[in-house]
Amino acid sequence: MDESILSISGISKRFGGLAALHDVSFDLQAGQIMGLMGPNGAGKTTLVNVVCGFYKPDSGTIRFEGRDITGLPAHKICRLGIARTYQIPQPFGDLTALQNVAVAAMYGRGIGKSAAENAAPDVLRTTDLSDKKDVLARDMSTITLKRLEVARALASHPTLLLVDEPAAGLTEAELPRMLEILESIRQTGTTILLIEHVMKVMREAVDTILVMHQGETLVSGRPDEVMNDTKVVECYLGEYA
Ligand SMILES: Nc1ncnc2c1ncn2[C@@H]1O[C@H](COP(=O)(O)OP(=O)(O)O)[C@@H](O)[C@H]1O
Ligand SMILES: [Mg+2]
Repeated sequence: MDESILSISGISKRFGGLAALHDVSFDLQAGQIMGLMGPNGAGKTTLVNVVCGFYKPDSGTIRFEGRDITGLPAHKICRLGIARTYQIPQPFGDLTALQNVAVAAMYGRGIGKSAAENAAPDVLRTTDLSDKKDVLARDMSTITLKRLEVARALASHPTLLLVDEPAAGLTEAELPRMLEILESIRQTGTTILLIEHVMKVMREAVDTILVMHQGETLVSGRPDEVMNDTKVVECYLGEYA
């Protein structure tokens, strides 16, 4: 039986003369955390944008739970069960944590305001934000904003969560709690594609790693295999270890 939740085949995306993605193919198995790694400009965020329907790929196919979702608009893809976080958090600054999560649930699940507000405390608990529920997003620290970003994505009850650099801007000391939160989300059955270029995150948090370089897939496999791959060592480890 094919247990791929996401199957990417031959995806390319150009911005003018620049090939941000070139013939990218990979499969993500249900229930896993897959790390997507690569230096700035490798195409990681573009891949997230293509999977979520924010950009249409120029060529290639995206299948989610066996269904071809290539070219569907973002809101339809979200309703099918794919949610993403942004590298730079995008909350509503004038809303509280609870209101931000409720709005995301209303949009992402198509439920009413009171149902969304009733569902929000659970999401805040999972993301360690219960004590921040009444704090306005504009008054939050970086770590709290990063968690709220995950909470907003989780509010739509995704089966696939795409997390774009959750560790960016966090201190070394703040990292473990973020990784615990992602692991607890995975344990509820949500598959996670974790974009990151902090090596430590990849070593500790993921089942498999895909390394991208200049819009192409460089290597994929288990973390220990990938970390020891000559191409990866040559291209990245010196820079990011
Ligand atoms: N909307 C856009 N318009 C033009 N160029 C873009 C756009 N988005 C990304 N790019 C370019 O595509 C390449 C890949 O970017 P990105 O996917 O953000 O990389 P990463 O997330 O791995 O750092 C970069 O060269 C970037 O400048
Ligand atoms: Mg990026």
